[in-house]
Amino acid sequence: IADDEKGHDLDLFCVPRHYESDLDKVIIPHGLIMDRTERLARDIIQDMGGHHIVALCVLKGGYKFFADLLDYIKVLNHNSDKSVPLTVDFIRVKSYCNDKSTNSVRVMGGDELSNLAGKDIVETGRTMQTLLSLLSECNPKMVKVVSLLVKRTPRSSGYRPDYIGFEVPDAFLVGYALDYNEYFRDLS
Ligand code: IMP
Ligand code: MG
Repeated sequence: IADDEKGHDLDLFCVPRHYESDLDKVIIPHGLIMDRTERLARDIIQDMGGHHIVALCVLKGGYKFFADLLDYIKVLNHNSDKSVPLTVDFIRVKSYCNDKSTNSVRVMGGDELSNLAGKDIVETGRTMQTLLSLLSECNPKMVKVVSLLVKRTPRSSGYRPDYIGFEVPDAFLVGYALDYNEYFRDLS
């Protein structure tokens, strides 16, 4: 998504009344998220070969993307000669206060931390790098990171996930489980 992307007028979509005055525009329509996620699922299955995948969801912001990505992977598993055994796990990570990334990253939950992580957005990359160093302590055979969004920002540490849905401008994005102080997750 280009830096000068105009986006779509809010009036073109169904936006909850209680959020109307707080939002600027729709940058990525829900249908586009779904179409891109379908392709990510195909790429992942092709790359993973016969490896067993532990799909690890990074809560809370990653839950929508995680669920939709796994649904597409499930469809591929149901309908192709090549299929991968899949189990799920969930981890909670907190690094944000208001609209600013903070230096401390707190990680909670998760019991079987191995093969694959699904995330909402990478800004500086600090959250993901902290999580990856924690995961490496469990000696997984391989770790692949899928992030729906990666922000183009001068604050980036240079970290890049293995799979990226969209590269986005340096703006604050909400919806599809991404929040501002817990609000706006309930947008498509
Ligand atoms: P990083 O550690 O700077 O990469 O920050 C990543 C985390 O910050 C994400 O998992 C989100 O929780 C939060 N975050 C960063 N940018 C945004 C945004 O534009 N909207 C909502 N949350 C964001
Ligand atoms: Mg958040």
